[in-house]
Amino acid sequence: MSNFVKIFDTTLRDGEQAPGCSMNEEEKIKVALQLEKLGVNIIEAGFPIASEGDFNSVKMIANQIKDCEVAGLSRANIKDIDRAWDAVKNAKNPRIHTFIATSDIHLKYKLKKTQDEVLDIIQKSVAHAAKYTSNVEFSCEDATRSSVDFLCKSISTAIKAGATTINIPDTVGYTVPSEFSRMIREIKNGVDNIEKTTISVHCHNDLGLAVANSLAAIHEGARQVECTINGLGERAGNASLEEIVMALKVRNDLNPFVTKVDSRQIYTSSKLVSSVTGVNVQPNKAIVGANAFAHEAGIHQDGVLKQRDTYEIMEASEVGIPSNYIVLGKHSGRHAFKDRLTEFGYKLDDEKFEIAFIKFKELCDKKKYVFDEDIEALINEEFVRSGDYYKLVSLSCSSGTEDDPSAELTLLADEESITISESGDGPIDSVFRAICKAVGVDPKLDSYNVASVTGGMDAQAEVSVIIKDADFTARGKGASTDVIVASAKAFINALNNLRWRKLHPKIASPKGI
Ligand code: KIV
Ligand code: ZN
Repeated sequence: MSNFVKIFDTTLRDGEQAPGCSMNEEEKIKVALQLEKLGVNIIEAGFPIASEGDFNSVKMIANQIKDCEVAGLSRANIKDIDRAWDAVKNAKNPRIHTFIATSDIHLKYKLKKTQDEVLDIIQKSVAHAAKYTSNVEFSCEDATRSSVDFLCKSISTAIKAGATTINIPDTVGYTVPSEFSRMIREIKNGVDNIEKTTISVHCHNDLGLAVANSLAAIHEGARQVECTINGLGERAGNASLEEIVMALKVRNDLNPFVTKVDSRQIYTSSKLVSSVTGVNVQPNKAIVGANAFAHEAGIHQDGVLKQRDTYEIMEASEVGIPSNYIVLGKHSGRHAFKDRLTEFGYKLDDEKFEIAFIKFKELCDKKKYVFDEDIEALINEEFVRSGDYYKLVSLSCSSGTEDDPSAELTLLADEESITISESGDGPIDSVFRAICKAVGVDPKLDSYNVASVTGGMDAQAEVSVIIKDADFTARGKGASTDVIVASAKAFINALNNLRWRKLHPKIASPKGI
């Protein structure tokens, strides 16, 4: 049996079903093109019967993607299947993915059908799909809570009717690796001609076991895994693509399987999905979280600097993260601090270094994490400059259902007071445009994120932005109980950082984040 595992990405279908994760057509196409670059085998582009928008985006993706199969999901009925086929038929390699539930609980309460009726539906719908294409995937929804006997009958029926991929979903994230392994083994032993199909698994993460269950199934012979970028998906999400791919790669000694994913595209894919869905990746998320390659403890930092694999099982660059990102904090020692300064290009003599280190430790008492900009600000204040070039003086803006968004603000630019008004697509866009006009720059806004500092109605909004011009990237942060004021502060902070970088090209690191 081949050791090649197909990666079936369902970010655009199951991932998009997650609350607050909907994407527009243009965003879906961007994600699909990135998935193609990432090297997934199959892109499940959507559920064409669900809406006109879903149908159109599946169709557009089918038309544009050349290096992956494009699948459209359909319930097991003629109308859904026709619609799915209509959406994917122009793809270079189209697939119809049809499903029906097989567990007693779904049959009794949801479908209100007997097992025989379900078998009949499977036969008719898979046979109908197979008239369009030989690339038909059949899924037994809620497989892990179905009787193995009925599961085997359903799968046999689907194979006889023409299914070429058999998907075993753990729809409610209920199974555990040992049980799931046994189920795959029983299906392999209990279904004629199963070896002529590809066994696929689709695991949800309700118990945090989606990746472990998927790996267990691969060991039993599954050769397709369904997963999503950042583990997005219904409820607790789906198995995370990046975790599966890296588990196979990093522990290939114990998981001797391969995929065709280019792991160096993982980070970009994660960033893209997070930015189009607006769903931030949790900082401690494996592989792609902000802290996944960050070492805060002094002993760890010292170890990594001496020999990376003392505390790292893979290199950040393997998943496309630009550099080893060590978050400095109160546990950081001289070694890590000096290394970070050197990385930035700062060359301080011993006396200055000692002063900087004392200031750094003072800052660590006030702030849990010290970012690159904090260090730069510290060096600036101590050795280079005092104060910011631009300061917000006042700001007011209007928006709402009746008003066109606009902002009026006053800021100090090199001590000169400038008052300016602008309109834009929304209040924040208006504020950013007004600031750019006042300062006379036009950087690209690369990222904009709002997080709540604490819970509750009076929580402060903490806004982080990353801006870019042709030469430099700079980060800015601002906090306020008013999200628009926090946004203005963050943007001005980033402009100050950008300007400082341009004025000190020798000591500023170009990437700056
Ligand atoms: O979780 C599930 O069962 C599904 C199927 C439609 C494959 O998403
Ligand atoms: Zn699912």
